[in-house]
Amino acid sequence: MKDIIILGIESSCDDTAASVLKNGFVLSNIVADQQIHQKYGGVVPELASRAHQQKIVPVVDLAIETAGIKRSELTAIAFTRGPGLLGSLIVGSSFAQGLGFSLGIPVVDVNHMQAHVLAHFIEDPAQKKPGFPFLCLTVSGGHSQIVLVRTHFDMDVIGETIDDAAGEAFDKAAKLLGLPYPGGPMVDKMAAEGSVRFDFPMPSVKGYDYSFSGLKTSLLYFIQKEQEKDPDFARKNLRDICASYQSAIVTYLFKKLILCAKNLGIREIAIAGGVSANSHLRAELQRFGKEFGWNTYIPKFEYCTDNAAMIGIVGHYKLLCGQEFGESLVPTARLAFNE
Ligand code: KG4
Ligand code: ZN
Repeated sequence: MKDIIILGIESSCDDTAASVLKNGFVLSNIVADQQIHQKYGGVVPELASRAHQQKIVPVVDLAIETAGIKRSELTAIAFTRGPGLLGSLIVGSSFAQGLGFSLGIPVVDVNHMQAHVLAHFIEDPAQKKPGFPFLCLTVSGGHSQIVLVRTHFDMDVIGETIDDAAGEAFDKAAKLLGLPYPGGPMVDKMAAEGSVRFDFPMPSVKGYDYSFSGLKTSLLYFIQKEQEKDPDFARKNLRDICASYQSAIVTYLFKKLILCAKNLGIREIAIAGGVSANSHLRAELQRFGKEFGWNTYIPKFEYCTDNAAMIGIVGHYKLLCGQEFGESLVPTARLAFNE
């Protein structure tokens, strides 16, 4: 069979990423993050799309050069169609379509959240692939979902956050504690040196859905109350606050995931998305895996946070399945799985 060489392009938020995959194996995986947002403590959409415009050509060139291939060898280009910031999506989508047109090759649209899940199918001799059906806890800066995955392209969100995403809960807490953006990795780092000493109430939402906004508010009130007694409380207890808050988020995520796995009788359990880079979440998945007899799947660190290899692998499977494409290339900020 002819080789499938795909260029993946990701530009849904504040990372400009490009990757080349050959038959599902990653030849290059380039991610350029955007430091500009740090001083605002969050992503500024207009600045993000401008930075994508500046970075997309050098990032794609570097991905092709690192892969050691020529542009003319590409079989197809896969790009993120949504969900994400519209101005950011437009940059990746227009670039992909322009390049695809000039090379005369197919351009394949990819759903970013589906790509986080299918990151588990990037070919790697050191990584097992989940068996179908499996549950994937997809936790990122914009989403928190429990996804029931029946096949590569038959998946449904069976639980999701009704307000903030888990990543936002990390980022907002970090901001409150004076840590730089994005806060998740910083909270993770601080928590590793702290102990769980403070209690945060578990949000109560029915079924498999989540809510994270109350958790963030309870942290705010807790700090305000303690600071009245000791104005230096947050600084002095930073590591323990991070450990306690992180533990509350992770415990809550697993509470619903365990319920779901039990009710559906599924033992193939995966995690995905930026928050799946969290060391406590990864350790807890292993622990629960042993306790409940699950087969657990954790993506490599570089395929957890936003990257283009995951976009490329979806393109690869779409080509393999002979899926129709080319009809729905319009970037869409709010894109459901089956659109
Ligand atoms: O998947 P992702 O890169 O982008 C979105 O699609 O949103 O996820 C970014 C989110 C941010 O909220 C970031 O703080 C969080 O993932 N994150 C982490 C860690 N690394 C990234 N959260 C907790 N612990 C981490 N180690
Ligand atoms: Zn993402």
